[in-house]
Amino acid sequence: MAQIEWGTNMFIGVEDIDAQHEKLTKLINDLYYAYMEGKERDVLSPIINELHDYAHYHFDTEAAYMKRLGDSYGFSEGHLAKHSEFFSTVIDFLLQYVSGSDTEITPELLDYLTDWWRGHIMGIDQGLGEAIRQMESEG
Ligand SMILES: [Fe+2]
Ligand SMILES: [Fe+2]
Repeated sequence: MAQIEWGTNMFIGVEDIDAQHEKLTKLINDLYYAYMEGKERDVLSPIINELHDYAHYHFDTEAAYMKRLGDSYGFSEGHLAKHSEFFSTVIDFLLQYVSGSDTEITPELLDYLTDWWRGHIMGIDQGLGEAIRQMESEG
């Protein structure tokens, strides 16, 4: 398990999306560090809530771009399904922890979170970035 090294190699070349990715990466790292320091629900919960809200906001931003792209971006369905997966596999679990149910955060869950996030930015989001840049260069 490791924190995510934020760097220019993670840029997709679209200013608002890159700024959102950087902010979400920071939140994920904040959660990771707090967990590693042994912090408990009172410290972890606000980070998780912000991560949840901001992930929604970010995915809405990408969905709006996909709408503008229309048929010129052929991966909307699969991409949106990946965003849903992020909630169903990790965020929903973290929210259960926040709500005080009998749930514990594990290193494996945070591993999954960091791997998912890094993989998504370096993978499917790069293709979306290319499509957006193409659209914007064509006016
Ligand atoms: Fe993204
Ligand atoms: Fe995405």
